[in-house]
Amino acid sequence: MTNGITAYDKGEAPILKISGLDYYYGDFHALKSVSMDICRNSIVALIGPSGCGKSTLLKALDRMSDLIEGSRVSGEVLFNGENIFGAGVDITLLRKRIGMVFQHPNPFALSIADNIKFGPRVHGEKNRETLDSLVESSLRAVGLWDQLKDRLDKKATELQADEQQRLCIARLVAVEPEILLMDEPCSTLDPIATLSIEELMRELKKNYTIITVTHNMQQAARVSDYSGFMLMGELVEYSKTADIFSNPRDKRTDDYISGHYG
Ligand SMILES: Nc1ncnc2c1ncn2[C@@H]1O[C@H](COP(=O)(O)OP(=O)(O)O)[C@@H](O)[C@H]1O
Ligand SMILES: [Mg+2]
Repeated sequence: MTNGITAYDKGEAPILKISGLDYYYGDFHALKSVSMDICRNSIVALIGPSGCGKSTLLKALDRMSDLIEGSRVSGEVLFNGENIFGAGVDITLLRKRIGMVFQHPNPFALSIADNIKFGPRVHGEKNRETLDSLVESSLRAVGLWDQLKDRLDKKATELQADEQQRLCIARLVAVEPEILLMDEPCSTLDPIATLSIEELMRELKKNYTIITVTHNMQQAARVSDYSGFMLMGELVEYSKTADIFSNPRDKRTDDYISGHYG
């Protein structure tokens, strides 16, 4: 049984420790005793065929999955040692510390600057100078400042797709998260925009921990430090990306990465 392997080798406590995580949509068992440790300042790629539970796992990690009626979760996810499912967890704060980027860039129909200011305002920031400086630092963090600084009052929805995706990442960065969850962040982008987002991810991991879902094996191999292969709700194999692609331990992983099914 390879499920539950930890791909952890940094010698410090993991930022996330997922243990025996089960998730049900009604009677449907969507995550089956998933266990994995996530190292700080690493990029983890979740791979596996459509419907295997990748998005469900991401959504469980910031408790977006709570919102689904009839769903049930059990097991434990320790975030910096504290169970995210524990009584008394502040979910708004949790989602500030663990932010999510989606497949389709979803900026608000507001100005570029107001998109960035939105999160800090929700969390109570009112100081105009602080907000303006967050706009600059967040746009710098995603490599957008130089190109957008003279049109901060333009509608964010008029930006190009990859700029919109960067802006959505900047919007998270503005509330100072620790973990960025990215659900197929490049799947609607062209190859050049995709490479630029991958480069951004490598830059961001200096300050954040990234868990990303991708359908693109090359992307997982290029960008991630660790990869987890999922199949029908099970985490079949989880290890260093170089190992999983060159020497998978489980035949099902081997079949998937060599393109036998998908
Ligand atoms: N809201 C939902 N209600 C019921 N079943 C769902 C719901 N969302 C996802 N599922 C099912 O859970 C399984 C995993 O879905 P998902 O996590 O979206 O997979 P992936 O992201 O790997 O494609 C699929 O079989 C899917 O049909
Ligand atoms: Mg998905």
